[in-house]
Amino acid sequence: MANTEKRGGFGGKVAAILAAAGSAIGLGNIWRFPYITSENGGGAFILIYLVCILFLGLPLLIAEFSVGHNTKKNPIDAFATIKKGWGWLGAMGLISVTLIMGYYFVISGWTLNYTIASAANSIGGDFGAFFTDFTTATWKPLIYTYLFIIANHAIITSGVQGGIEKASKIMMPVLFVILISLAVYSLWLPDGREALVNVFTPDFSKVTGKTFLDAMGQAFFTLSIGMGAMLIYGSYFKDGTKIAGTAISVVSLDTLVALMAAVIIFSAGVENESGMQLAFVAMPKVFSAMPFGNLWAALFFLLLGLAALSSTISMHEAVTSYFVEKRGMSRKHGARLVTLFALILATVASLSLGDWSEYTVAGMNFFALLDNFTAIVMLPLLGILTAVFVGWVWKKQDMKAELTAEGGVDKATYPAIRFLLRYVCPVLVSVVFVFGIASFIKSLNTPAEVETVEAETPEVTLHIMGGSEREDIDIENIERVKLTVVETNNN
Ligand code: PHE
Repeated sequence: MANTEKRGGFGGKVAAILAAAGSAIGLGNIWRFPYITSENGGGAFILIYLVCILFLGLPLLIAEFSVGHNTKKNPIDAFATIKKGWGWLGAMGLISVTLIMGYYFVISGWTLNYTIASAANSIGGDFGAFFTDFTTATWKPLIYTYLFIIANHAIITSGVQGGIEKASKIMMPVLFVILISLAVYSLWLPDGREALVNVFTPDFSKVTGKTFLDAMGQAFFTLSIGMGAMLIYGSYFKDGTKIAGTAISVVSLDTLVALMAAVIIFSAGVENESGMQLAFVAMPKVFSAMPFGNLWAALFFLLLGLAALSSTISMHEAVTSYFVEKRGMSRKHGARLVTLFALILATVASLSLGDWSEYTVAGMNFFALLDNFTAIVMLPLLGILTAVFVGWVWKKQDMKAELTAEGGVDKATYPAIRFLLRYVCPVLVSVVFVFGIASFIKSLNTPAEVETVEAETPEVTLHIMGGSEREDIDIENIERVKLTVVETNNN
């Protein structure tokens, strides 16, 4: 039965920018960008990243908005409307974004626990132990993840304008205020400015092939490229919304937030921590030494949670739109189904860090598998295919008409965008993709899951987290471990 509900849409330009920026700005900016930067030579990485954002990310974002805006359809129908037989490209994006939801919701749930625990000052003195105990527990992380998923569900069922637009208009300004306050505060920290200069100073000796891989992957992830999320938002843009201008605003805001997050984290002097630990262990530790530090920590985790929520609603909406428009379900029903998928995947992902950590595929638990597979395989693949679709498959005149329509790319820049989409994106991303797959396969042969090594005297348990994402750790060949005692308990 066809669905008779009216198709939703954003009320205006500001809403379009805020919602799309909300999708872009997420854990990718605040949790992932700083640690990838510090692992890859600081300023040198940032330069490469900015090049990727400008020459690959921006044209692809414009392309994705255009496909949505042109067709005003869900991701599968949108591709199929422009070229018959291409609906599978939309489907691939929706499958990928569902898999991303699986682990993304888990981390989002953590932010909730950390916000509450920081505000209540109940994290205690051992931040590493708190993190490990919490994330490997059975129920606690699940409950927070479920709460987060329910909040997400409530926004989606309230509709495009009443839910997504309204939530974005509230969340995004709050997010910016918190971000600016934290940035100002962190620059006051002792050694803050010095630490900052150190991190932003390019260290080209750390640049390797992997740096380019990481930079591109990060650029795609942070701009939500290829997953149908930006496409569906593009389809909700009001007529007359400037596609190119919106894309430029989104890219600028997203980049600004990533850089400010790096400023906040590095000025706290924690650039040597990596991976998940950076946000969840190092930050509360740094804040704990400051007056009212727990409240600043709570603000930081609230920031992380808001950024995550504005991203997860775009993921959820992309998939929901498919069930509503293609399967004829009511919005409520469609959303319920997507929420159910999210609940199941997130439950397995969360448990895979603790109770179910012994179940691994090629040395990776389910959580790491979802993260690695989507980041290394799906993201670049979808980037290449979207570029090929818009650059080669979409009829030249139609594509030009959409891209240069009033408020679109201006006539002078159009050839450049077309050139980037036809040649630069597919070729460059393919190269990076092949290398990425190669190093992924290599990492499969060197399993590095969560390991617990028991030492005899004194009794110490060493947790090495990060799974096979940590290619720099070859657990089997670790011979010596340097232990630094941070805190002693003399009883
Ligand atoms: N861009 C989001 C972030 O940086 C993640 C995201 C990916 C959102 C795919 C939507 C779709 O965290």
